[in-house]
Amino acid sequence: MSIIADDNDFKTIRAKEEKNPIVEPEESDTDRNFENTIRPKSFDSYIGQAGIKDTLKITIQAAKKREMPLDHLLFYGPPGLGKTTLAGVIAQEMGADIKITSAPALERPRDIVGILMSLKGGEILFIDEIHRLNRVTEEILYPAMEDFYLDMTTGKSQTVKTLRLPLPKFTLIGATTKAGELSGPLRDRFGIIHRLEFYSQDELAQVVERTADILKIEIDEAGAYAIAKRSRGTPRIANRLVKRVSDYALVKHNGKITESVANKSLDILKIDEFGLDTTDRNLLKLIIDKYDGGPVGIETIAAALGEDVRTLEDVCEPFLLQAGLLQRTPRGRKVSPAGYRHLGYKNISDQQSLF
Ligand SMILES: Nc1ncnc2c1ncn2[C@@H]1O[C@H](COP(=O)(O)OP(=O)(O)O)[C@@H](O)[C@H]1O
Ligand SMILES: [Mg+2]
Repeated sequence: MSIIADDNDFKTIRAKEEKNPIVEPEESDTDRNFENTIRPKSFDSYIGQAGIKDTLKITIQAAKKREMPLDHLLFYGPPGLGKTTLAGVIAQEMGADIKITSAPALERPRDIVGILMSLKGGEILFIDEIHRLNRVTEEILYPAMEDFYLDMTTGKSQTVKTLRLPLPKFTLIGATTKAGELSGPLRDRFGIIHRLEFYSQDELAQVVERTADILKIEIDEAGAYAIAKRSRGTPRIANRLVKRVSDYALVKHNGKITESVANKSLDILKIDEFGLDTTDRNLLKLIIDKYDGGPVGIETIAAALGEDVRTLEDVCEPFLLQAGLLQRTPRGRKVSPAGYRHLGYKNISDQQSLF
């Protein structure tokens, strides 16, 4: 089998260009365009994640001094916390170009081979949702990551030849919402692994103010905090809420976001004071009402809510767990006493005795 390079599935982004058309497969174009206009491009504008930023700055300086590419990096954590953004920031700070793709786009061997063969020395390859790589693609990546070469076979059965093709030294940055689903051998090939954390309210208020500033939306400090409080620790959600609240402010008021404007508009959107939306509340309610608070399996919950298991696991659960409203046990999910209280259930102790 001969493998032909094919470059349809990825984009190269020049480090010096300001507008990065970063590809995010599971989002609409409007979402993507919006996100790209407000995506921080440097460490200075990247808010929070102080620990990760400090370590990365040193790693980047050391790599530059040695005139070597960075070690391969893996970022994991719930969606919207800034993994893709961080990959772009690193490229910018390294002065390197970045090619962006995602595991679902790397279906055939020639997809990954094509990308690897097109890389230049020092370039960064970003693979999103890296836990979804198929086995063949993963095996092509191992020697590429470790020793920078590709093993290619050419010819038919009797005349088969293996060709060892050297690759330029590049840096792979992988991102995933599910570090646990990454195979051991792949995980071991990343020199640097970081988990992104949920953001504090102060940090989210900064995200909100920064976004409002870029979009030329007027907002006061209390308004920024009101949005930050309901953003589930997630910059992507904070940014979306800024847009929605700004629409409301424009139609119902003079366009300025104050605390009361933010709160009224978020109430209308049915986002409660913890940032939970209808799906989150329905999930907790279902477990309490139908399964005595749990434990109950995620598949059962998903079927009852008519939701996708992956959406529940990747999007809903991480925040509910972190907020202490939901608990994960070997036998399934359980609503915590705080979860009962949050939904206004009075007889917490009665309900608890059922556990
Ligand atoms: N540290 C940050 N500071 C400011 N904005 C951020 C930060 N992290 C993420 N964002 C914003 O949130 C949005 C989603 O971030 P993204 O990197 O796409 O998340 P992920 O890849 O983890 O799903 C981006 O458009 C960006 O504007
Ligand atoms: Mg991303």
